[in-house]
Amino acid sequence: MSAALELDPYAYAFHEDPYPLYRQLRERAPVLHDAKRDFYALARHVDVHRALRDAETFSSSQGVSLDPAASGAVAAAAQSFLAMDPPRHTRMRALVSRGFTPRRVAELEPRIRARSVELLDALVGAGRCDVIEDFAGILPMDVISELMGVPPADRAELRRAADLLVHREEGDFDVPPAAVEAFGTIRSYFQELLAERRRKPREDLLSALLDARLDGDRLDDAEILSFCNLMIVAGNETTTKLLANALYWLWRNPEQRKRVEESEARIPGWVEETLRYDNSTQLLARTTRREVELQGQPIPAGAKVVLLIGSANRDEAVFPRADEYDVDRDTQSSLSFGKGNHFCLGAALARLEARVALEEWGRRFPSYCVRPDGAVRVHSVNVRGFARLPVELAAA
Ligand code: HEM
Repeated sequence: MSAALELDPYAYAFHEDPYPLYRQLRERAPVLHDAKRDFYALARHVDVHRALRDAETFSSSQGVSLDPAASGAVAAAAQSFLAMDPPRHTRMRALVSRGFTPRRVAELEPRIRARSVELLDALVGAGRCDVIEDFAGILPMDVISELMGVPPADRAELRRAADLLVHREEGDFDVPPAAVEAFGTIRSYFQELLAERRRKPREDLLSALLDARLDGDRLDDAEILSFCNLMIVAGNETTTKLLANALYWLWRNPEQRKRVEESEARIPGWVEETLRYDNSTQLLARTTRREVELQGQPIPAGAKVVLLIGSANRDEAVFPRADEYDVDRDTQSSLSFGKGNHFCLGAALARLEARVALEEWGRRFPSYCVRPDGAVRVHSVNVRGFARLPVELAAA
C-alpha cells in the first residue's frame, strides 16, 4: 500500500516545486481531505473548473485564502468583492468596472512602454541585474499606482507592505503579525489618499470610484478601501511574479527561446504558456454551501475547499505533454485567471504589461542568462514566483 499523500501549502519545500506532488494528487487523491487542517483539495482540471464556475455550491463569501484568520469580516475588508457571492459580488464588480474600463486599460500602453524603457535603459551596460529588484518588482506597482492615483514617492513603501502581506513563515498556519501590520499600513495609506481625492478629484480610478453610480447605488468608503487593498495585492504581486517566471522558464528552455527570438509575435504565446506552466496564483479557496460529491468523494456543507489551479494547468487530460513548456501550445483551457463570475478583472492589464515589458526586455537583453544560485523564492500560500532573480545581461 502506498503512503497517504499530504499537502501543506505553507511548507517551504512545497513552494520550491509543487508539481511532483500535484501529479501524485491528480493520480491518487484527486479530492484530498486534509484532516489536520481540515480542508479538501481539488487537483484535477475538471473539478477545479467546475468549482470555479459553480458559485452556488462553492462560495467565496468566506474569502479565497486558506489562512484561518483571513475569513469572515477580515476577508471582506482585505479581499473586497473577491470575497463575495452574487448578488453583492455582481453589484460591486459592476460598480468597480465603471472605473476599470477596457479603454482606461488600453490607454495605459504608452505609459507602460515608457516606464519599461526607462527602467531597462538604466540597466544597459550594467552587465547584471536582479530581475525583481530592478524591473519586475517596480513596473506593475508603477502601473497600478498610476491607475489608482498613488504618487511615485509612496510606491516603494506600498510595495514593501504588499510583499509582507503575502509572506508566510515556515511552520505557521495563519497570518503572521507582520502581515497584519502591513494590512493596516495599506489601509491607512488609502484612507488618507481617499480623503484627498474627495477634496480634490483627479483623473484616476480612486476619483472615479468615489463618483461611480449604478442605478442610484454607490460605493461607501469601506468598500473602496477594501478594493484598494485587493488591487495593490492582486495587481502587483501576481504580475511581478509572471514577468520573472517568464524570463526564468524561457532561459531554462533554449529551444523555446529560439522560437521567441525568431519573432516578437510569439511573446503573447510565451506569456500564456508561462501562466499555464507556472502560474503566479497557485491556489484559491472556496467554502461549500451544501454537500457535494466529486470523483466519488463526498464533501460536506461548510467545508473549506482548495482549488489547485497550478495542478489543473498541468493536467494531461486537458494539456498533452503538460510538463513541457511550449510557447506555441493551445492554452485556452488554462485556469490561470480563474473562470466564471470572479474571472480576473485585471487579466487584460496583466497581459498588456507582460507583452510590453517582455518586448522591451528582448530588444535590449536578448542573451540574458539567469544565475540560478542566487535565485530566491517567495514563500506564500498562493503566490508563486521569485523574490530575487539575478541575471547576467550580456552574452558570456
Ligand atoms: C499574472 C497576473 C494575474 C493573475 C495570475 C491573476 C489571477 C487572478 C485569479 C485566479 C482571479 C480569480 C480569483 C477567484 O476566482 O477567486 C483573479 C481575480 C481578480 N484579479 Fe487578478 N490576476 C492577475 C493580475 C491582476 C491585475 C494586474 C489586477 C488589477 C489591476 C487584478 C485584479 C483582480 C481582481 C480585482 C480580481 C477579483 C475579481 C472578482 O472577484 O470578480 N489581477 N485574478
